[in-house]
Amino acid sequence: MTKRREGTLAVFPGSFDPITNGHLDIVDRALAVFDRVRMAILRNPDKQPLFSVDERLALIREAYRGNPRVEADAFSGLLVEYAEKAGASVLIRGIRAISDFEYELQMGLMNRRLNPQIETVFMIPAESYSYVSSRLVKEVFQLGGRVSDLVPKVVEKRLREKYGAPIRAGRPRRKA
Ligand code: PNS
Repeated sequence: MTKRREGTLAVFPGSFDPITNGHLDIVDRALAVFDRVRMAILRNPDKQPLFSVDERLALIREAYRGNPRVEADAFSGLLVEYAEKAGASVLIRGIRAISDFEYELQMGLMNRRLNPQIETVFMIPAESYSYVSSRLVKEVFQLGGRVSDLVPKVVEKRLREKYGAPIRAGRPRRKA
């Protein structure tokens, strides 16, 4: 059985535009090892997100309502500086496939160079989420595809509010 380290805060950084069930799966795994997990959204002026930072924070908080072990916050600047100020010594990142690995390794090594006290922990989501990304969820939803198994209910609701009716109705589906 995994032993949870009491009092440990792990920061799970990302864009989370929006959160998917793949993110939630990683949070669940992190909660088995660490006491608290803080999902930290980067305030990135170079990106044009679908959901504002405040909307993304609200989605996370809604998805984890009633679970005090999961927190949501936003940050600017260097991630390791944010983590240190937050009192976290662990960063969580999910790795879905080999294609994620190169970028994650680079980031992990750079973060270690910037602050060797902070450890990056890579976690693997359930295989059923290995192809799920926020970008694909938005694209599929917008084009009329079904995303209900891929995102929390509240995200699907907000996608509907954002995009209105999908561009075209989905074709009758066969079971996957
Ligand atoms: O969900 P994403 O977009 O893959 O998350 C990327 C994120 C936010 C984790 C990364 O861009 C980041 O940590 N940015 C903060 C700036 C920083 O610390 N850069 C140096 C790290 S290599």
